[in-house]
Order: sequence, then structure tokens, then C-alpha cells
Amino acid sequence: MGVLLITGGSRGIGAAVARRAAKLGHAVAVNYRADGDAAAAVVASVKQAGAEAAAFCADVAVEAEVQQLFQAVDREFGPLAALVNSAGINGGKASVADFDGEELSHLMAVNVVGTMLCCREAVRRMSTRSGGSGGVIVNVSSMAATIGGRPGSSHYAASKAAVDAFTVGLAREVGEQGIRVNAIRPGMTDTDMTDELRQDPALHRAIAGTIAMNRIAEVEEIAQPILWLLSDQASFVSGSCLDASGGGFMIGRP
Ligand SMILES: NC(=O)c1ccc[n+]([C@@H]2O[C@H](COP(=O)([O-])OP(=O)(O)OC[C@H]3O[C@@H](n4cnc5c(N)ncnc54)[C@H](OP(=O)(O)O)[C@@H]3O)[C@@H](O)[C@H]2O)c1
Repeated sequence: MGVLLITGGSRGIGAAVARRAAKLGHAVAVNYRADGDAAAAVVASVKQAGAEAAAFCADVAVEAEVQQLFQAVDREFGPLAALVNSAGINGGKASVADFDGEELSHLMAVNVVGTMLCCREAVRRMSTRSGGSGGVIVNVSSMAATIGGRPGSSHYAASKAAVDAFTVGLAREVGEQGIRVNAIRPGMTDTDMTDELRQDPALHRAIAGTIAMNRIAEVEEIAQPILWLLSDQASFVSGSCLDASGGGFMIGRP
């Protein structure tokens, strides 16, 4: 199945993709920024499933670290076949009147520029024009991009809308170079990023009530469509933004 690099593979959605990818026989490169223990646990569980795996520390917002990450994956595993850009932050809740410029720049650096830099490195390796064998990329966006985000998340929504637009543009640019590029737009999903819902059952119920299926997603429910997008079953799917959203946002319940 080839070498798969997952940015933000140490926790949440990225970790679920790593665990499932192992069962499909991918060699899995697990990128993380800070939580080495979590990355090591994911690597251990991938290996237990019989696949190759290693953890790679790199901040996707730092260009030199992104370059080193891809070089390290080249050395450890050989040619990259697939990339999932799951590394992301929510930037905290803030109304526009309270925005802090540095925090905004950091959010965009991680969610947008980080995704773009990782795609650049992947394209350089995968493109049939530069001697590669082609490949597939999935960028993890968000349903927030479709509605401007929930209250206090317009900056996060904007970062994910940028991911969507970039995904469509990149797919067109590299379609003839053997590379498919898609985005997935998860709805609210149970991860550390949404820890406040674990802490507050009333908030959890209220958020669930805004989703057509009246619940939030488990990470496996996002990982599976990502793996489908990576697979040959999606061989003619490129430039798409796939909603994994439980039916999307409810305006009101009948
Ligand atoms: N959870 C949701 O409801 C939801 C909904 C829609 C979209 N998403 C998107 O899904 C993706 C994964 O989110 P999640 O919920 O799985 O989040 P999570 O549980 O908080 O995990 C985030 C992952 O990203 C890594 N990361 C963060 N900043 C990084 C950086 N600068 N460089 C490299 N890695 C970095 C973290 O590494 P460390 O462990 O080292 O910190 C961790 O592995 C994100 O892009 C998020 O925006 C999430």
C-alpha cells in the first residue's frame, strides 16, 4: 500500500487514520509537534497490527522542520505514496473584536501554510513530471468552513476555507502528474480538540442538537472516509471536499 505520512498523527483524527492504515498494510509515518508519548503509543499500536511505523517530530508551521520531516521519511521508509494533513489547531475561541494578531498568524501558519508546505514537499516527491510514481493527498478541513464557524471560531473557519480552496486548486494543478488531492470536512468530532464537550454534558447535548444525526462523530467515522479517499476505490475522485458531518447543521428541529 505504500508509505503514508500523517501530520498530526499522534492524536485524534490523525491517530485514528494511522491505526486503520496499519490494517491496510501502509507503512505509517506519524508526525507530531509536542506529544512524543502519544506519538510513540500510536507507533506501537501500528506495529502491533503488523505494519511498519515511526514517529517524526516537526512543527508544520516551520518550513525548515517540514523539509527535515519529509527528508527523514524518505530515509526511513523510501518513496512517499500518500499524505494526510491532519495537524491543526482551533486557535481558541475569540470574537473578532478581541483578535490578537500573533495568534491569528500562528493559526494560519499551522492550518494553512503548514498544509501548503507539506503538500509542496509531497508534490515534489510524487509528481510523475519529476520522476515520482504519483500519489494521493487528503487535507483535513472542517465543516466550519461552510458556515463561517460556530460563535468565536470565524478565524478557524477562515483557515479551513483556505484549505478547501487550496485543495481544489492543487488538485487541478497536479491532476496530470499522477496526484489526487481531496479534502475532508469533519463535523464536530470527539478528540482532545473538543475536550470541552467531554467536560460539559449539557454543552455536548446542545452541540449534538445542532447536527442532523443529533450526535458528534467518533474519530473512526472520520478516519474511514479519509482512507477511502486514499484508496484506489476513489481513483477518479480529486478536487473534492467530502463532508463527514452527520448530515450537517440543523437550523431547527421539527
Ligand atoms: N475534532 C473536531 O471536532 C474537528 C472537526 C473538524 C476538523 N477538525 C480538524 O481535524 C484535524 C485533527 O484535529 P483533532 O481533533 O484530531 O485534533 P487533536 O486531537 O487536538 O490533535 C491535533 C494533532 O495535530 C498535531 N499538531 C498540532 N499542531 C501541530 C503543528 N504545529 N505541527 C505538527 N503537528 C501539530 C498534534 O500534535 P501534538 O500531539 O504533538 O500536539 C496532534 O497530533 C485538525 O486539522 C482539525 O482542525 C477537527
